[in-house]
Amino acid sequence: MEKMNPAKFFKEHFVKDRWPAYVWFPFIVACISIPAGFYYVNWSQEGIGAGLYSHQWAPDDVFAYWSPNDFYQSVDTVKGKFTGQQCIQCHEALTPGIVKDWENSLHSNPGNNSGKKQAIVYCTECHGNDHEELHLPTPDICANCHKQQHDQFMDEKRFGFPSHALAMERALDASHFVDKPKAEVTPCVQCHSVATKCDSCHSRHEFSAAEARRPEACITCHSGPPHPDDESYFASAHGKIYLQEGDDWDWSKPLTKGNYKAPTCAYCHMDNGQHQVANKSIWKFGIKQINPQTSGNEIKRDQWVERCSECHESDWSRQQLKALDLERKQAWDKLNKAERLLRMLRSDNLLFPPAGKRPSYPNSTMDRFFPRERIGFFDGQASAFYNVSAIERNYFEMWYFDNLSAYKGAAHGDFSRVKKSHQALDDDLIELNHQAEKIRQLSTQEKNAGIHPEADAFWNSGEYTDYNRENN
Ligand code: HEC
Ligand code: HEC
Ligand code: HEC
Ligand code: HEC
Ligand code: HEC
Ligand code: HEC
Ligand code: HEC
Ligand code: HEC
Repeated sequence: MEKMNPAKFFKEHFVKDRWPAYVWFPFIVACISIPAGFYYVNWSQEGIGAGLYSHQWAPDDVFAYWSPNDFYQSVDTVKGKFTGQQCIQCHEALTPGIVKDWENSLHSNPGNNSGKKQAIVYCTECHGNDHEELHLPTPDICANCHKQQHDQFMDEKRFGFPSHALAMERALDASHFVDKPKAEVTPCVQCHSVATKCDSCHSRHEFSAAEARRPEACITCHSGPPHPDDESYFASAHGKIYLQEGDDWDWSKPLTKGNYKAPTCAYCHMDNGQHQVANKSIWKFGIKQINPQTSGNEIKRDQWVERCSECHESDWSRQQLKALDLERKQAWDKLNKAERLLRMLRSDNLLFPPAGKRPSYPNSTMDRFFPRERIGFFDGQASAFYNVSAIERNYFEMWYFDNLSAYKGAAHGDFSRVKKSHQALDDDLIELNHQAEKIRQLSTQEKNAGIHPEADAFWNSGEYTDYNRENN
């Protein structure tokens, strides 16, 4: 029998010379798969949770305050509609702190600084006047009066991850968010709520610009091992000057040239009060190896130099930032060596137990059918949270903690941190080499002795993984 040629077959039976198969076949595939894709994404977001995995977790009540659009429902214990004055009268007794903060704010005394006459912004402007239909203000409520800040903030999305405007999606769509117990992931939503409400840097109910200008406004979220911005800033020359003299500075002044002796977080990252932090980002959190010399990145670098040059000489500033690039290159030389080492172990099947004998990575269909040990950032951060062998975990800690610490040290001028972190990277590399050598020796000995080690049940059903999946 003649071998079937699908293209010829389709052409003869269906198209009859009008449209060749390579035109209409992809067209039909697209007609089916694009709507199906949209349908799937829509469906995936319709569950009781939120985000791409909304069917696989349920929110705790407290989530309503971090992501009000997704989860908030008004209390219905107090009935009636009230004027702003009435809200205050009752809440003065109930929540005196809130009322006091509001009284101290420009919302209660508009024009106090600017001299512009404007209406008082009562509780009702942000929460509504019906106590059974209260809402918690999301950025779009603030936008009614602060369109400029809101629009700048939302516009940040075009710079991609990481960015404040995308932070909530980033947390909810992380597969380890779904797969860990609620108690451990509630803080994700807390920090990543920077995207869903405007009171992260100017806290309620004072909503003070002066507060947001100070570094303390950022460090509730920007501290700790993977992002030691707090620690590196306060150890830098800038942070030291702030600590010594900051209390005497006039914080009512905007963050523009000439107003401050040393820069704070917002001074450097939110140019002239612009509500964006992602527009100058070159190194993107420090977990990706990037080329700082693309034309886009050169423009961002010029913007950085311009910012430093408000206080320093510009060539001097450029050299400082070049030192950051050199530090990054050095760090990536070390990380790449470690990554090669692990990839070689993987290709020699020496990572024990192999991926097929471990729980598959959460929410990864690929992984269920083609299990694979994930190494480094590009293979997936999941290695942080699941049963992996000791050498894989050590490499994860190398790139996630020691590397990111070195990065923030270099970015923020905490030179002692750079030195310590690079020492740690060197030690990591030595340790990984030792471990790899031992693994190879052991494997040879086992082979010679005819031993074929089996993975213990622990790997597949450790308390960690099973327990997690049941409790989110
Ligand atoms: C008669 C007293 C009274 C008045 C008037 C009043 N509140 Fe309340 N409010 C309460 C009480 C009591 C609670 C706590 C309700 C609860 O936890 O069930 C509350 C809670 C709230 C909350 C928190 C809701 C939550 O889900 O955590 C907000 C916001 C609020 N009030 C805003 C307002 C605003 C805005 C007005 C004016 C329109 C107002 N209140 C008028 C008594 C009052
Ligand atoms: C400029 C807008 C704005 C005004 C005006 C305002 N609030 Fe709020 N309020 C907020 C924001 C933002 C939150 C935090 C919402 C969240 O957590 O998602 C909040 C939260 C609250 C909460 C619940 C959280 C808590 O800390 O207990 C209460 C209660 C509350 N406001 C009461 C009031 C009262 C009473 C007034 C009037 C004196 C008032 N608010 C005026 C923006 C405002
Ligand atoms: C109904 C209009 C209105 C709404 C809604 C509103 N504001 Fe305001 N806001 C004002 C006015 C008016 C001022 C005072 C401006 C002035 O004095 O010139 C102000 C001032 C501010 C300031 C500057 C304070 C300072 O210290 O300089 C901040 C920050 C601020 N608002 C944040 C917010 C946030 C965040 C929200 C949403 C949760 C919000 N506002 C909602 C009208 C509003
Ligand atoms: C409520 C928590 C919170 C506060 C407060 C906060 N941030 Fe962030 N910030 C985040 C989160 C979360 C991310 C990561 C977002 C993501 O996952 O994409 C982030 C990311 C960033 C980035 C990285 C942007 C990039 O493209 O690499 C910068 C810079 C930044 N923040 C600066 C600041 C500054 C400056 C302040 C204070 C003025 C501040 N943040 C206050 C939570 C916060
Ligand atoms: C203490 C506040 C805080 C907590 C808690 C927190 N994050 Fe973040 N997260 C941040 C900050 C700040 C950054 C940005 C760091 C930078 O750009 O240097 C970030 C970055 C990220 C990124 C990478 C940014 C990107 O877009 O590539 C992801 C993904 C992420 N967080 C998810 C989570 C998840 C999931 C959790 C809970 C398990 C969590 N975060 C808990 C503050 C926090
Ligand atoms: C990452 C921290 C951060 C977040 C998040 C943030 N702000 Fe601000 N905001 C600041 C800083 C810093 C200033 C002071 C800027 C300056 O000195 O020029 C400020 C100032 C303001 C002012 C006063 C502007 C003026 O010229 O007086 C308003 C209004 C304001 N913010 C509204 C908002 C609104 C609305 C949102 C939510 C979309 C928001 N902010 C979210 C940090 C933040
Ligand atoms: C002297 C200016 C300056 C100050 C002050 C400063 N930073 Fe930075 N920060 C930088 C530079 C430069 C980078 C590297 C940016 C790049 O090349 O991508 C950086 C990187 C970051 C990043 C990672 C963003 C990225 O692009 O990878 C975060 C998040 C961050 N800083 C937060 C903070 C916080 C929070 C504070 C205050 C505690 C602070 N910074 C203070 C200059 C500053
Ligand atoms: C608002 C003013 C201001 C801005 C903006 C500023 N600096 Fe500084 N910086 C200072 C002051 C003041 C000192 C301490 C005096 C000195 O050493 O020049 C300092 C010190 C330093 C030091 C330590 C200098 C040394 O010789 O030990 C470094 C490094 C530095 N800055 C880098 C930068 C970089 C990089 C930028 C831009 C990303 C920047 N600065 C932006 C004011 C500023």
